[in-house]
Amino acid sequence: MTAKLVQLISQQSIAETVKRLAQELDRDYRDRTPIVIGVLKGSFIFLADLIRQMQTPIQLVELIKLSSYGSGTVSSGKVQMEMGAPAAVIAGQDIIVVEDIVDTGLSTTKAFQVLSGYEPKSLKLCALLDKPDRRKVPVAIDYLGVTIPDKFIVGYGIDFDERYRQLPDIYTLESPTEL
Ligand code: IMP
Ligand code: MG
Repeated sequence: MTAKLVQLISQQSIAETVKRLAQELDRDYRDRTPIVIGVLKGSFIFLADLIRQMQTPIQLVELIKLSSYGSGTVSSGKVQMEMGAPAAVIAGQDIIVVEDIVDTGLSTTKAFQVLSGYEPKSLKLCALLDKPDRRKVPVAIDYLGVTIPDKFIVGYGIDFDERYRQLPDIYTLESPTEL
């Protein structure tokens, strides 16, 4: 059987949310030059839209890769982090981590543990989506887009097994295990 996509958040609603988050960041980062760190791969479209809505001069855009999800819909619970830039660039800087979804919270927690060890001046989290029902570790989301129910979602950069990232809206994916 084929997977069923049901629209959850429209392109227009995403754009409004991204604009609101950019305004909140601009307000808080006035007179600062933050480093924005996108978490690959899921945040790449959100990151691209978010920074283009921000007026704040960003000194560096960095990308990190966390491995938590394999080829399925359930997190393995083990998380590794990779970053291109040397750790020294983080020291003493204002860091904004940009995430697609906070689900169990394990990925974000791992990223924050590693990044805080690099001694940034400040470290904040901006997440487009929050799925609080599945949280295993508490995560403070400083800049939150939308809270969603415990459904598997795709689109706007977010995948199921690498598929559906290109969809401009966000959808719930029904029966993904039967793909
Ligand atoms: P966490 O470690 O469980 O919080 O998972 C975080 C990552 O899992 C997110 O950045 C997403 O890439 C992925 N993820 C969580 N929920 C979903 C979903 O509903 N669809 C696709 N990917 C998801
Ligand atoms: Mg991801």
